[in-house]
Amino acid sequence: MSAATSDQPSRLVLTRALPDAAMNRLRARHDAWVNPHDRTLTPDELRQAVCGHEPDAVLAMAMDRLDAPALMAFPPSVKVLATLSVGHEHIDLEAARRRGLVVLHTPDILSDAVAEMAILLLLAAARRAHEGAQLLYEGRWGGWSPTQLLGRDVTGGRLGIFGMGRIGRTIARRASRGFDMKVHYHNRSRLPVEQEEGATYVGDRDAFLSASDFLVIAAPSSEATRGFLGAATIAKLPPGAIVVNIARGDLVDDEALVAALRSGRIASAGLDVFNNEPRIFEAYKTLPNVFLQPHQGSSTMGTRVRMAELLLEGIDAALAGRPVQNRLA
Ligand code: DGY
Repeated sequence: MSAATSDQPSRLVLTRALPDAAMNRLRARHDAWVNPHDRTLTPDELRQAVCGHEPDAVLAMAMDRLDAPALMAFPPSVKVLATLSVGHEHIDLEAARRRGLVVLHTPDILSDAVAEMAILLLLAAARRAHEGAQLLYEGRWGGWSPTQLLGRDVTGGRLGIFGMGRIGRTIARRASRGFDMKVHYHNRSRLPVEQEEGATYVGDRDAFLSASDFLVIAAPSSEATRGFLGAATIAKLPPGAIVVNIARGDLVDDEALVAALRSGRIASAGLDVFNNEPRIFEAYKTLPNVFLQPHQGSSTMGTRVRMAELLLEGIDAALAGRPVQNRLA
């Protein structure tokens, strides 16, 4: 790849191939090396790709580990690191700042898609969708019955949202307008009223939990939120609560959640994210009252293409020295 000047394409390393529509756009304006595998690069492969191609920018994914050693190994050519995710716990931002990198992510643009996934999981968990599908796929369905797989009414239910960022607020809007849910939220601090989507702020965490017949975890992964849902927090939920996680797996203590799902202390769960992806805590697969998805929150064609476009525009702007809104560092 040749060095970028104002009239030459910039050079990118992509840690995963993007949908065709985004790849076509990218190839028209950038000179890119793309991970040829259908998997995340190992840390060694990532280092070799970046050092070997000396790009202007690296377009990475939430599954790439971009810790201080990885960032410090980037050659001097790299000016921008862009991640195809809103979450950024995989990037050592302090090290990125020290290294003088501009870091970009994809806020806002995926909130609708992720909120849709939260509603899908909420409905699937409440209406026992996994058990229903199993009846059919395993040929065990004996026909309609007035007592078959009785689920829970979502409409009018009490929903607690842990983490009222852009995604949490979109979930609140969908749940209250679509399903008349009574929504309350817990956050580090109360939002301005015009951003609350009619939801009630509950600053006391125990009070928040005890009113959450439905709980959606939508907070970013951080030191403060890791392990949020464990034995102690589960004990504060109403018996038979329903839990959804669209945030990050490390907000949940898997052993505690599985124990609560087995005992019925938690009636059911819908999970899109896991500790140690792509491996998942095996016991989840044995439980009928869990509805699982493989980290699909932002996975719609439109959203993924828009995420890629936002990053490509940001990379162009940052390399040209223009201000970029979706900048983390
Ligand atoms: C995000 O944007 O953070 C999604 O979870 C994809 O990684």
